[in-house]
Amino acid sequence: MSLEVIILAAGKGTRMLSSRPKVLHEIGGRPMLAHVIDCARALDADRIHVVYGHGGEQVPAAFAGETLEWVLQAPQRGTGHAVEQAMPAVADGAQVLILYGDVPLVRAETLRRLLRAAGSGVGLLTARLPDAGAYGRIVRDAAGRVLRIVEKKDADEDQLAIREINTGFMALPAGRLRQWLQRLDNNNAQGEYYLTDIIALAVAEGLAVNTVEAGSMGEIMGINSPRELAQVEREYQRHQAERLMEQGLTLRDPARFDLRGELDAGRDVVVDVNVILEGRVRLGDGVHVGPNCILRDCEIGDGTVVLANCVLEDARIGKACRIGPFARVRPETEIADAACVGNFVEIKKSQVGSGSKINHLSYVGDTTVGRAVNIGAGTITCNYDGANKHRTVIGDNAFIGSDTQLVAPVTVGEGATLGAGTTLTRDAPPGQLTLSRAPQKSIEGWQRPKKSNK
Ligand code: UD1
Ligand code: CA
Repeated sequence: MSLEVIILAAGKGTRMLSSRPKVLHEIGGRPMLAHVIDCARALDADRIHVVYGHGGEQVPAAFAGETLEWVLQAPQRGTGHAVEQAMPAVADGAQVLILYGDVPLVRAETLRRLLRAAGSGVGLLTARLPDAGAYGRIVRDAAGRVLRIVEKKDADEDQLAIREINTGFMALPAGRLRQWLQRLDNNNAQGEYYLTDIIALAVAEGLAVNTVEAGSMGEIMGINSPRELAQVEREYQRHQAERLMEQGLTLRDPARFDLRGELDAGRDVVVDVNVILEGRVRLGDGVHVGPNCILRDCEIGDGTVVLANCVLEDARIGKACRIGPFARVRPETEIADAACVGNFVEIKKSQVGSGSKINHLSYVGDTTVGRAVNIGAGTITCNYDGANKHRTVIGDNAFIGSDTQLVAPVTVGEGATLGAGTTLTRDAPPGQLTLSRAPQKSIEGWQRPKKSNK
């Protein structure tokens, strides 16, 4: 039996009070809909249909290049109407699974249980809640067989008291579903075509409706407001933190850790509080990341320590380096083993050789720094002339005195020394001391100006 997934994502998301379509709001740094699509792919769905509407083409545009069947639902007349829009492209013999663009944490494992329970009939994912809230209620007969789903707004007193709710996730046989959808009406409190009404139709035809309970409450959390977005984000992060800790990662506080992408961490890695990891991050064995750091698309070698308050982006950092505190490493930077980048240092599009030190208050941009170079405090590479960027090259074992400006393009030879305060405008030869300081003088008898008392 082939599997066709239909993801409902046309709803308005009024309570988000946002001009962005709800399903494009992010969980873990990616549109919530992307998580649902991932889940459908994990199930090996033969086809994934996404019903979109509110927000128009912005939604398909966000997934350009992916193999998805986009179905426009305009206007939106309810969940049954939404599914109906996708049906022309669904094969009769398929098993259909209904997912929701705004319920992003559902797990493939749970859905596999649901698909198995449904077989060639109907499967319904339910949950038992202390307070059934606004959810549809599962109505069963005395023998415990599912009879139908009643929406909260259509429920009577007895039905309102039911604690077993409809999560919305369903598995159904495509051919029968097609017929049931044609028989839906909108004679209900909301004037909508309810997908939930097909349960009673299936029961009337003698089909068993098999239920499966959700694995956790997090899985069925829907997002309708910024508050719920934040709650689902926390749940997602909690889950990731737990998975990573199971793999041996030490998190000083899992509640203050955010991974918005993928982390590949070695052994004995420690991550302190309030660290945000984005994109693809690789941390080698024994790496320590101090508090309040942001690392985006970084690779950090074994034994390197990133101290507090660093922002590292698109950087490759070698082994046994010491970065920060308060360092900013910008894209296209490579730092070799045993290098030091200290406080208030900004490095951009540069290579720093092994054992080199840039310890204080410097800007190094478009620069190749050799091995065992010492860059003194307050060194600036003047890489930009107002129109173009130019490179600086600093040879191995060079010593750059404090408060030096290197006006690029310029080269400092191997083993060269630049005196403190130098403004280097021409290449410095290897092995020599170069300095551009005016000779120091003292003026005898000089007096500070005094305030005139007019
Ligand atoms: C629905 C269920 C309810 C269940 C609840 C779980 C129905 C009638 N009710 O109620 O039993 O407890 O979900 O959250 O199905 N959508 C469309 N097009 C539409 C209408 C909705 O794509 O025309 C999408 C929405 O974007 C949303 C989902 O379907 O993702 C659910 O729609 P919503 O109106 O929120 O249904 P609920 O009232 O929550
Ligand atoms: Ca809802």
